[in-house]
Amino acid sequence: MCGIVGAVAQRNVVPVLLEGLKRLEYRGYDSCGVAVHADGDLQRARSTHRVAELEREVQDTALAGFTGIAHTRWATHGAPATHNAHPHFSGQSRGKARIALVHNGIIENHDELREELEAAGYVFESQTDTEVIAHLIDHLYSADLFEAVQAAVRRLEGAYAIAVFCQDEPHRVVGARQGSPLVVGCGQNENFLASDALALAGTTDQIIYLEDGDVVDLQLSRVWIVDAQGNEVKREVHTVQIHTGAAELGPYRHYMQKEIFEQPRAVGDTLQDIQSITPELFGDGAYDVFKTIDRVLILACGTSYYAGMTARYWIESVAKIPVNVEIASEYRYRDSVPDPRTLVVTISQSGETADTLAALKHAQSQGMEHTLTICNVGTSAMVRECKLSYLTRAGVEIGVASTKAFTTQLTGLFLLTLALAQVKGRINETQEHDYLKALRHLPVAITAVLALEPQIMAWADRFASKENALFLGRGMHYPIAMEGALKLKEISYIHAEAYPAGELKHGPLALVTDQMPVVTIAPRDELLEKLKSNMQEVRARGGELYVFADADTRITASPGMHVIRMPENYGKLSPILHTIPLQLLAYHAACARGTDVDKPRNLAKSVTVE
Ligand code: G6P
Repeated sequence: MCGIVGAVAQRNVVPVLLEGLKRLEYRGYDSCGVAVHADGDLQRARSTHRVAELEREVQDTALAGFTGIAHTRWATHGAPATHNAHPHFSGQSRGKARIALVHNGIIENHDELREELEAAGYVFESQTDTEVIAHLIDHLYSADLFEAVQAAVRRLEGAYAIAVFCQDEPHRVVGARQGSPLVVGCGQNENFLASDALALAGTTDQIIYLEDGDVVDLQLSRVWIVDAQGNEVKREVHTVQIHTGAAELGPYRHYMQKEIFEQPRAVGDTLQDIQSITPELFGDGAYDVFKTIDRVLILACGTSYYAGMTARYWIESVAKIPVNVEIASEYRYRDSVPDPRTLVVTISQSGETADTLAALKHAQSQGMEHTLTICNVGTSAMVRECKLSYLTRAGVEIGVASTKAFTTQLTGLFLLTLALAQVKGRINETQEHDYLKALRHLPVAITAVLALEPQIMAWADRFASKENALFLGRGMHYPIAMEGALKLKEISYIHAEAYPAGELKHGPLALVTDQMPVVTIAPRDELLEKLKSNMQEVRARGGELYVFADADTRITASPGMHVIRMPENYGKLSPILHTIPLQLLAYHAACARGTDVDKPRNLAKSVTVE
């Protein structure tokens, strides 16, 4: 959620910290801040604006130092205000700040700790749970920051990644993690911390992924890690190729638009050069796992959850294996009936979503050991936790609203469907060959749909003045309608709901007036005639239909019925193509309303808190 950067070096670290923050800003943008050790004092700058503003402020005040930490915030405890912005200091009530700290996560026992620290004389300046940690470390400090942090984290309940430094120890930054991501970047006589290796691109490619319970001592030429028990541990140093090219906008107005148009490439890359379907695409031992399992449980959040819902239609119809799809934050807390012969599939763009990770661990703790992830980040906790994986190759996705991650997830999930069907003997070679051919043609088919942008822009202008919209789909296009509604609401702030079209008459039809645009996904499939009847139900109540209809559906425009013609029906892969115009509709409606498309209010890209 929040983004953390820390550095200890022999040069001014402020540019590295700010560059890191810019790369992490998509994780949360309610406020940002930086603190350094300068001239024997702790100094900081904080802003409720974006990192670019903070950078101007820092330049004006010439803030500089060899040791520092920085943070971009997604507010949980306390409003997005400067006094709640990180870094938080402790010790200033004694006249001089001694501890500076940034935090990502939620401290569940913060009330209790706050009372205790107030009783010890600490005065709180913010409403955050974070300030509690700063004061706790200060309270426990006696000449060794590393020791104080180890003692402090033993008192914390909840999730955290923290970076701390101390006025008395100018060449040291200490980090710790439990449930929230934190990496170490190793340099030559300089070392770094960050919540994502992306933040350190261009600074170092030598990355250590800390594990839950780790506390790390960073000095100029030393990286020392202990585990939750205080024992020294060696963690592997990975050379990580981080693509910074994703940060360039090129000719596009927003990252979201760029990412929508990258989909032919992203889907093509995700398919790599797959010559044939084999379970080993998902990792060593996949054949044995696929042979053993007789049901699938999909766990995910947000857009990834809709990818899972689509996959259920595919897996049940092609591989004939029963599938359950669960919202991770619900699954982790509900009583369910575990079955060890289940393939547990997590879907995640980031691979760091706290609820999905916790749901995975919950499934594992229930004896379900066959785990697989469809994930976009190879170095993420999700990939490390799951036995099997398939990496989507969307590239870095910056826009908070997921686009290319979704279509590449669907691509990976269709491959999974085929691999499962093959192992279970549910498809023959000809079918396999035909499906592969259709998959390989996807980049071209998506390019053709992207060419519809001008027509969709004209529709988007009409949507911009509305406050509500309905999305209808049937069968495997119902999750696509849900994804379309989510896209519209999250970036344009138009309230949008999706329904399976057959359900319309059981409630939502009451909302239909001439003020209600009804977006309809109309592929030429076995449900088409039923869908046409549902569309008539809307027209009869004066509702205005905006229909994305396959070319061979014989749906034509008439008053109150607007039609954009899609290519011929694309069979089982049709949901991937029908996603594209809904992304463009949401994008252009948001542009017409003048919202902050890439950073919609109150949201964050990577949700690493519960
Ligand atoms: C956030 C993002 C969504 C994303 C969801 C799940 O809500 O804004 O775009 O779908 O998290 O994230 P994940 O990284 O697990 O796919």
